[in-house]
Amino acid sequence: MYMENISDTLTLYNGAKIPGLGFGVWQISPLHTAKCVKMAIRAGYRNIDTAEGYMNEKGVGEGVRQAMDEYGLRREDIFVSTKLWNDNRGYDKAMKAFEVSLKKLGLEYLDLYLIHWPAVSRWHDDWREINRSTWRAFEELYRDGRIKAIGVSNFLAHHVQALTEDGDIKPMVNQIEYHPGFGQVKSAEYCQANGIVVEAWSPLGSGGVLKNGELNRIAKKYNKSAAQICIRWLLQKNIVPLPKSTHERYIMENADVFDFALSEEDMASIDRLPYCGGMMFDPDSARS
Ligand code: A2P
Repeated sequence: MYMENISDTLTLYNGAKIPGLGFGVWQISPLHTAKCVKMAIRAGYRNIDTAEGYMNEKGVGEGVRQAMDEYGLRREDIFVSTKLWNDNRGYDKAMKAFEVSLKKLGLEYLDLYLIHWPAVSRWHDDWREINRSTWRAFEELYRDGRIKAIGVSNFLAHHVQALTEDGDIKPMVNQIEYHPGFGQVKSAEYCQANGIVVEAWSPLGSGGVLKNGELNRIAKKYNKSAAQICIRWLLQKNIVPLPKSTHERYIMENADVFDFALSEEDMASIDRLPYCGGMMFDPDSARS
């Protein structure tokens, strides 16, 4: 069963609910973040994703609070995620970084906290111990009720597997780069097979895939935009897309994806697209 509207949720394995379409704020300047977050919440988004490394957590908090006041929403109506930056790996630093993020956001609790990038063997002989140590902080904050769900980002299947073996609590979410022409398919399949919800960052390939001819051919057929096709393609894979935009028109357009369904044939045709835009980071070799 596909999502029928923007506030529909997926259920994480611990029972927490995550809205199945979110708003990403990577590359939104701190000055514009509050305004964009407010526009997104006005447009119906209930899942806002930021990170320590985006430098705009303060703006996210302001936008969420202003939207709650103006639109009569409660804290529990909005799902807020942030991520721990690579400089703060390890138990002690992670504990401190969490408090700083929460303070910047001005929130009492976090819905989801993610390790932004895995420590990997290419740069760290003790990569497993580093990830385990960071994860101990996450587990403790989760058990203490400071965070409703904990997860990872940019973890390939073997990183998720190692952390699951080493830790006490399996990650609930893995947020990875996933868009037409570049899907981290193995990682996504591994996670979904193990009950871990997958989120997609750069679902539009940072805007780069939107000129692709095949995507535009399909878009025309459904009387939709190429961006809406990318988002719908992910929704039909049960992957949570986190499109980013600073324009109200696009923010609304990206949420208007619940009145059509892509055929299996069109899904497969998008699956086959070659690289056509986006970062295409390899977490195992990205310097982190
Ligand atoms: P802008 O921020 O200027 O509105 P991604 O979500 O993959 O990171 O892609 C974000 C990029 O795609 C941004 O440059 C954003 O532009 C652009 N974008 C977002 N939504 C749309 C849309 N519906 N149509 C065209 N471009 C879009």
